[in-house]
Amino acid sequence: MVESDEKLILGIESSCDETAAAVVAGGRRILSSIVASQISIHRKYGGVVPELASREHLRQIVPVVREAIEQAGIGLPDLDAIAVTKGPGLAGSLVVGVTYGKVLALSLGKPLIAVNHLEGHVHAVLLEAHTAGRAPALPAICLIVSGGHTILYGVKSRGDNGGAHFTYERIGGTRDDAAGEAYDKVARMLALGYPGGPVIDRLAAYGDPRAIRFAEPKMKENLYDFSFSGIKTAVLYHLRRNPEFQPEIETRQQALARGERSADALRALSTQPTLDLIASFQRAVVDNLVGRTLSAAEQQAVHTILVSGGVAANSELRRSFDAECTRRGIEVFFPSRHLSTDNAAMIAAAGYPRFVSGEFENFTLNAEANLPLA
Ligand code: KG4
Ligand code: ZN
Repeated sequence: MVESDEKLILGIESSCDETAAAVVAGGRRILSSIVASQISIHRKYGGVVPELASREHLRQIVPVVREAIEQAGIGLPDLDAIAVTKGPGLAGSLVVGVTYGKVLALSLGKPLIAVNHLEGHVHAVLLEAHTAGRAPALPAICLIVSGGHTILYGVKSRGDNGGAHFTYERIGGTRDDAAGEAYDKVARMLALGYPGGPVIDRLAAYGDPRAIRFAEPKMKENLYDFSFSGIKTAVLYHLRRNPEFQPEIETRQQALARGERSADALRALSTQPTLDLIASFQRAVVDNLVGRTLSAAEQQAVHTILVSGGVAANSELRRSFDAECTRRGIEVFFPSRHLSTDNAAMIAAAGYPRFVSGEFENFTLNAEANLPLA
């Protein structure tokens, strides 16, 4: 049900390998959220292939938007604005959403709003927290952790939270791989399928996280930077030093080729040393993410932490943040799993404050692959 004074924003997201559209009422109430994932297309390459991604966005964008409108129970003329991801992301993917959003806004005579994808991830958390009647107190530290990004921001609000504007200060970020990328690469080395995060998350529960100690990366210039390529390389060297891992890796490769990729099937083909290696890798990544985020919060005397992005779905990360934050009197917020990964509800929600303040784009809007948030 749409309340008559609630403004309706259509969000469009196509920055990486998900084509998504959503209708959000009043910046907070999700009426529909459709996500067409391309995982099955990129799986055999073990990562996103940009040319294939943009071709697939072209195929999906029209039906995905149509479904979002239908599920919201509205018609295109009922929309008040269209918000589209401008960047950062893959250039060829972004341009599909931006072009479609521009054409739709122009043909309907509706305002067009440009949204930074990273700000979208921040709004994924705020949106649901507000819906649950538990608005996060700002300022906050926000960790955005996905396959493409691992960044820490300080988030402040200017004005009241309803149509408020938020300001962002970049505190730190990864110097090499994103955390999700490290999960995907380690999963590839161990033949655990793609994407690697969800399977590693499930299998780690069966291993001993203290079995192997990975050295903590030292960040000399900025204590709040991250590095994951060292941990990934340490896993590679561990496998090279211990050739007994090889036969089971080959067995799992064959299982994946037969389409047997469930966590249970892969666990049945994994020995205890493999499960211990997986658990130790995950512990190293999680300790790194949680440790640095908490020290940033403590250093800035902030009592709220927001965690968003695909890796925010990780159960060990959630458990560890929950435990450490409870101990220190900090409140931590995560989006639901659906809103952790890329979606368009977060883009519509992030567009709402701009709608309220009339920050609209004209039709010269272009995608920006390296668009910074701060
Ligand atoms: O946000 P997202 O859908 O796409 C971008 O990268 O922007 O995140 C996908 C990433 C992948 O690297 C995937 O392996 C990781 O998030 N991921 C996880 C989990 N679920 C997804 N990593 C760890 N644990 C999970 N449960
Ligand atoms: Zn993302």
